[in-house]
Amino acid sequence: MQKLTESQRLAYLSAMDIDVFVPRDVAAVAPLDATTPLGGSLKLSVPAPEQRHDDEAVSSAPIAAETATPSVADAARRWALLQHDVQRCTQCRLHETRTRPVFGSGSRFARLLIIGEAPGAEEDKQGEPFVGPAGQMLTSMLSAIGLARDAVFIANVLKCRPPQNRDPRGDEMASCRGYLTAQIAEIQPEVILAVGRFSAQQLLDLDQPLGKLRGKAHTLPGDDIPVVVTYHPAYLLRTPAAKAKTWQDLKRVHALLGAQS
Ligand code: URA
Repeated sequence: MQKLTESQRLAYLSAMDIDVFVPRDVAAVAPLDATTPLGGSLKLSVPAPEQRHDDEAVSSAPIAAETATPSVADAARRWALLQHDVQRCTQCRLHETRTRPVFGSGSRFARLLIIGEAPGAEEDKQGEPFVGPAGQMLTSMLSAIGLARDAVFIANVLKCRPPQNRDPRGDEMASCRGYLTAQIAEIQPEVILAVGRFSAQQLLDLDQPLGKLRGKAHTLPGDDIPVVVTYHPAYLLRTPAAKAKTWQDLKRVHALLGAQS
């Protein structure tokens, strides 16, 4: 994983409006730990596939097929198939207007899964999630808790851009839901960060406003994966005052990852 320089880290914290007080004499002797700005001992490395599948490595001994754990190769194949299906999807009308679908980016072995709303203009062009201005804000949010983009997985509720960036429609979210469910099942993240109302409502199967959903402990329905709800980075660009609450949410993500490492 790429390590942040101190000046990069400070720039990201500043983008999040997070004040950093560094006593002059301490700064000279002990630079801040660039990977753990909250002072925690969060493990940021992405587990190698073999670490995540210790049990599967052992399973090469002959065992009954019905009790065998799925192999690493099977998981990789399922993931490739899922990507293939998304790239060719025509299940809703958005395929008619998209440039290309946006499957998601990052590590399939990530401990943190971030779920946004839908690709915007830049994402539709590049086929990558969160690469426009909101993406830069998301990168700052992650960096504020010591995470690089390639250490997490970033996906959206909708894989295709709604024309003129209009809100996702119910039927479009329903058509796309299977892909998101499959991504969650394959990644098996330890924590999900839902950014924005559509993501939070879709994941939690609730229709409350974002202000009512954030700041509470949720788990994915039918599962025990903690879901932290926060503001969408695009909203933070329009409403910088909401960064303080977002910082509280990010600290919760950091604590949950720390608690489970
Ligand atoms: N907004 C989102 O919700 N997702 C993106 O990928 C980009 C902007």
